[in-house]
Amino acid sequence: MPRLYFIILLLFSSHTLLAQTPSGCRGSPCLQPAVMQAATLFDRIENLYPQFFFPGAPTQSLWLDGSEVFFRQYPGEGGWGLATWQGGLWYRSADQWIRFSALDEGDQQFCGGRCLLSPAANGAFAGSVVLGAPTDSGIVLNFYAKEQSGILRVEYGKRGQAAGESSASVLLTAGQPVTLSLGGLEANTAYNYRVLFQPQGHAWEVASDMHGFHTARSPGSSFTFTVQADSHMDENSVVRMYQRTLANVLEAQPDFHVDLGDTFMTEKHQAPLSLSSAPATNSAAVEQRYVYERGNFATITADVPLFLANGNHEGELGWLKTTAGNDIANWAAQARQRYFVAPPSGGFYSGEGGNSARGAWYAWHWGSALFVVLDPYWYSGRTKGGDGWSMTLGAQQYAWLEATLAGSSAPFKFVFLHSLVGGLDGQMRGGVEAARFFEWGGYDSDNTTRSFPIKRPGWTAPIHDLFVRHGVSVVFHGHDHLYVQQELDGIVYQEVPQPSALNTNNAANLAREYHYDSGVVLSSAGHLRVTVTPNDVTAEYVRTWLPEQETSQRRNGQIDHRWVIKRR
Ligand SMILES: [Fe+2]
Repeated sequence: MPRLYFIILLLFSSHTLLAQTPSGCRGSPCLQPAVMQAATLFDRIENLYPQFFFPGAPTQSLWLDGSEVFFRQYPGEGGWGLATWQGGLWYRSADQWIRFSALDEGDQQFCGGRCLLSPAANGAFAGSVVLGAPTDSGIVLNFYAKEQSGILRVEYGKRGQAAGESSASVLLTAGQPVTLSLGGLEANTAYNYRVLFQPQGHAWEVASDMHGFHTARSPGSSFTFTVQADSHMDENSVVRMYQRTLANVLEAQPDFHVDLGDTFMTEKHQAPLSLSSAPATNSAAVEQRYVYERGNFATITADVPLFLANGNHEGELGWLKTTAGNDIANWAAQARQRYFVAPPSGGFYSGEGGNSARGAWYAWHWGSALFVVLDPYWYSGRTKGGDGWSMTLGAQQYAWLEATLAGSSAPFKFVFLHSLVGGLDGQMRGGVEAARFFEWGGYDSDNTTRSFPIKRPGWTAPIHDLFVRHGVSVVFHGHDHLYVQQELDGIVYQEVPQPSALNTNNAANLAREYHYDSGVVLSSAGHLRVTVTPNDVTAEYVRTWLPEQETSQRRNGQIDHRWVIKRR
């Protein structure tokens, strides 16, 4: 029987009041709960002792001796009350307030340690934050909570200083994403921020934990970014493996994370971890999947801005577009822009302009590097039999790519896309072995006929040739679910492993199946961590192992391969 009940019995039997003078900070460590935390604690006590603390009393507050008191008063002859004050849990009997215990003891006893700790209980914003489109002077925050409504703002400041600046406030509606843009920031600077949330119908704000981000690095500075591909979340993926990979990503505090696609999967599976191949049939189903994947990304996205590249299973495919626009391609494009942050063209980012721009291909400079994200699907019309020439960047994206590469003097140029444009097997497979063909390399699949001038009249050169001409350093691609590092004409071709793979020993099979004949070949799961200095680039394959898989040879977070390229 809890001690409170014992004390209450004592009170009734002897009328002896164990009153203490409420002065000074007592209790360890003098907790100051938020109103929602206090309310949750009171709720638990009411549930246990409804005969004394009749449920339904409102939580009130007042200031006493420099500390805020949260309390409830209960009707009836006993004059019962509950309060939190100065690190203590108090109850009132007759007209006496009596200190029951330290708050953390009360929390432990009535709530199992959950009332005072969980964000949802204390009324703080318990949804997810997705940081995106960081620039040299700002960043976008996208908020989403399934069940909370209220008013949100953020307080922010340079790291190491007080979060003294406040953003404007935005209205959060349960189940609807909302964005907030911060501007006027200093370039090349680390910032901290916290979310202040005022739940609907309440007069108080509750602050979240501190998070952080970095504005665009200047050309002379060093930084780290991370890359993943093909999380899939299908029958060959493991949620815990994916979450452990994301935890590994977060540990390095990269400036941003690039996802190479086959993440939302709505072209193949309507629901996550499903065995059945059933594309989403309406926009609500697509949105649901984007919300689910957002939940996975939430491990990192309050602290690591996210860039998305489309995969072939996202649904944003040229061959699935209809003239009416009410199709999976458009549902996916809209969901991506709604639940994540698509970099806007103009200013810091370049890319597709105009009102219909999807923000699916874009470029920016960060430190000594140019970053280019490509979309090889939206403009492609796939034909039966998988003619590689049917895959294309489209004239607009190609012209922009050429101008972007030619216009950049960055010593390092990185290209990100799900698969090569064309690829092998009619399934967009392969790395350097596929680079000779179609729009990427200019040749037909017979390996001798160079149809590029006929197939792409007026275009300067095949994509790989363009990359060689303009000094592209690395092509990061996914789609084939393994780690392969290769090189062709001075360009690193990096196939990025799955962050979530169930099978952790299938690299040789996949390499054979997808025609990888050269390079360093390793199995999933894990991600790439890339450090860029003004003089060199170091890429590391950070392997993920679940606790039960770890041995002396298999440590979660170990580096399974590392390569370095120097400034030319
Ligand atoms: Fe793929």
